[in-house]
Amino acid sequence: MMKDLYKAARRLDQVQFSPVRKVLERANELAAEGRDILHVEIGEPDFDTPSDIVEATVQALCVGKKTHYPPNRGVLRLRNAISDMLKEQYQAEYDGASEILVTCGAAEAIFDTITALTGDGDEVIVMTPAYMNYENCIRMAGAECVKVELSESDGYQVNKSVLAAAVTKRTRMIVLTNPNNPTGTVMNRESLQKIAAVAKAHDLIVLSDEIYAAMHYGVEYVSFASLPGMKERTILVSGFSKCFAMTGWRIGYVACDVRFYSPILKVHQYATNCIPTFIQEGLADGMKTEKTAMDVKAMVLTFDERRRMVLEMLSQVPGVTCSGADGAFYIFVNVSGTGLDGTEFAERLLEEHGVALVPGAAFGESCQNCVRISYGMSIDVLDQALQRIREFTRTLCK
Ligand SMILES: Cc1ncc(COP(=O)(O)O)c(C=O)c1O
Repeated sequence: MMKDLYKAARRLDQVQFSPVRKVLERANELAAEGRDILHVEIGEPDFDTPSDIVEATVQALCVGKKTHYPPNRGVLRLRNAISDMLKEQYQAEYDGASEILVTCGAAEAIFDTITALTGDGDEVIVMTPAYMNYENCIRMAGAECVKVELSESDGYQVNKSVLAAAVTKRTRMIVLTNPNNPTGTVMNRESLQKIAAVAKAHDLIVLSDEIYAAMHYGVEYVSFASLPGMKERTILVSGFSKCFAMTGWRIGYVACDVRFYSPILKVHQYATNCIPTFIQEGLADGMKTEKTAMDVKAMVLTFDERRRMVLEMLSQVPGVTCSGADGAFYIFVNVSGTGLDGTEFAERLLEEHGVALVPGAAFGESCQNCVRISYGMSIDVLDQALQRIREFTRTLCK
């Protein structure tokens, strides 16, 4: 029998490319044809990285010549700075020397954690709507992804009996994202306590993705790791892509109880080994300055202004509803009242009105009726995009 030279490994059978890519590729094709395309699909802040971080990195590279291998775990000064920040801002206590691992973005932190701690025969509960990396990493690890749907009518908060009902003897981990991508929901203390109770009752690990922790608007933010008794079972993954507008720098981290550390470090060693030394050194210096804190504060205030404007404009759009939206920089809009599902809505909006957004199906089968709007771009772009959305829905809801 002929061998198939190009066949992929079997464990990739169930792994998908990101549907966000599809939208971006089509939007770029249309733009190349000369169409005026407005991008509200992109999950990154349009701000510059705080200048103190940039300058400290340039110094580290040019003056300090920090161009050789750093420790696998990350530069100790940076791990200590992360530990201090987690303690001061989120009351989460992780030791810099033994419980923080610097990774290539939060994406690697997620991959390392899931690969290190789950595998054949394990089930991992993911609350949806959810960022697509979890499900695909779980599949690559050979484990099974069990989805628990959070509903728009509950404001995407947790229903304890629904969560508990998804637990079986094989459940190993629960994944949560707070604030959430794509809904923008900040989980309230009560929701987190419900997750904690289920995790404790069934002795489960919790992967808490807190990459949007700096972005919450007028609501209390609680880190899952700060809840009593949770630090020892929580793997906190986060990074600097969003809070410092550093998406292209590729730097994130895992914070976990020392007993989880070794397996995660093993995966990291063979995945990326370590993150560029000068970036770690620059970040260690630049992240702590008063100017950086002010830059972040200004960015978050601007996001809040945009958020309020988009919500106000959406309230005038027929056929749509939304819930949550008090964190991150996303609004998850249910478009079922227009007569279209999220995928048809997104395709027609792009083709007919030149607005690119992400269909909800990218975040779980239960999200077919939704689309995600990002407000990571200027108020001008958002204003025009929302006007086009309003025109489009008026034609649908006549
Ligand atoms: C919830 C969530 N986690 C992790 C990531 C990955 O972040 P990073 O750029 O640090 O890899 C993203 C990026 O969009 C995200 O939305």
